[in-house]
Amino acid sequence: MTSPGLSSASRFSEIEARLARRDLKDIYKADLPTPCMVVDQEIFEANLNKMAAHCQKTGVKLRGHVKVHKSPDIANRQIALGAIGLTCATIAECELMSNAGIGGILLTRQATSKNNIERAVALARRDSTFATVVDDPLAAEWHQEAAGAENVKLKMVVDIFAGLSRHGIEPGREALELAKQVDRAKNLELIGLMGYSGIAAHTKGWKERMKRSRDDTAGLLETVGAARGAGLPVEIITGGSTGTYNIDPELKGLTELQAGSFVFMDTIYTEIGSKNGDEFYGDFGMSLTVMTTVISRRHPHQCTIDAGNKALLRPTDQVKGRPEVKILNQGAEYGILAWKHGDRDFKLGERIEIYPSNLDMSTNVYDRYYVTRGEQVVDVWPIMGRAGAAQR
Ligand SMILES: Cc1ncc(COP(=O)(O)O)c(C=O)c1O
Repeated sequence: MTSPGLSSASRFSEIEARLARRDLKDIYKADLPTPCMVVDQEIFEANLNKMAAHCQKTGVKLRGHVKVHKSPDIANRQIALGAIGLTCATIAECELMSNAGIGGILLTRQATSKNNIERAVALARRDSTFATVVDDPLAAEWHQEAAGAENVKLKMVVDIFAGLSRHGIEPGREALELAKQVDRAKNLELIGLMGYSGIAAHTKGWKERMKRSRDDTAGLLETVGAARGAGLPVEIITGGSTGTYNIDPELKGLTELQAGSFVFMDTIYTEIGSKNGDEFYGDFGMSLTVMTTVISRRHPHQCTIDAGNKALLRPTDQVKGRPEVKILNQGAEYGILAWKHGDRDFKLGERIEIYPSNLDMSTNVYDRYYVTRGEQVVDVWPIMGRAGAAQR
């Protein structure tokens, strides 16, 4: 009997060789090793198109965050649809995307180590469109010293606190002073201000989210007024997220959005509620799943799958098409699906798809996205920005 995961004609080594040369004719989900990441191309493209149309309609630009997907293939698709660049959390992500030929990159996490600051300056030398952020006068000094030593002009954005205490200088006088310092610095070029309202992003209920966004970005917008009043160049005001993409333009402050998760969506985001209803946030579809295989079913009301801790299985994940099934993680390479009614209804060898609840972390443990249309694999995108010594 042929095993359920492979057709008789498709030996694993042959499939691997064909994937490597992108010869994807007649390769199906059933041919793939599990656990693996699967992108539903139709939903993914609808998400990208929806955000692009939203930006075109509102005049707010997209500089989408890559920390979610870590893929130049995806970044390039966003650029082709009108995005003005990318936002990255690490200098390694910036280097990766720049090496893939993408411009307009903004590093949104302040560099403070000699290593990271020197790499930022080196990147600015290669790509004059690259910009980075500071939220501290000392870090601004360090960037000036490093850029001065290399005789490079480094574009800079002042990062202002917008409700998330992990970064951002206090809005108002302190932020204005920092913006002036950057503007005066010989090798720095002030291009704008940033305020990432990360708490607003996941605030449940559209009205509550709107209020939280308004409150958390008020200081940023006041500082924009003060900076412009002082004659400082504020070309860009950058921030925003998937949760506030349709709120930020209404607040009439941001010139660009850093939204990232909308390309795939995750289960946590679906719970924040949308403009039309507070229960479910369906503005963007869940296009990413982790596909796993049922590997044992010896006990009632549960079966075992081949995705566990290493696959970042979590109780907040969801089984595609089976919302009543609970997810329990059982070990490094084992997970358990449990249900109350109707026993033995997952078959041995059956493929199960799971929606992850944290995109950034989950995409960090896989090598590839298998892009699919129905059961067919139509593309393979390497996940190039994964963590690793060379990536930090
Ligand atoms: C600075 C910054 N901007 C934008 C985003 C993107 O937010 P989301 O993935 O919710 O769209 C993040 C996410 O953590 C972030 O840290």
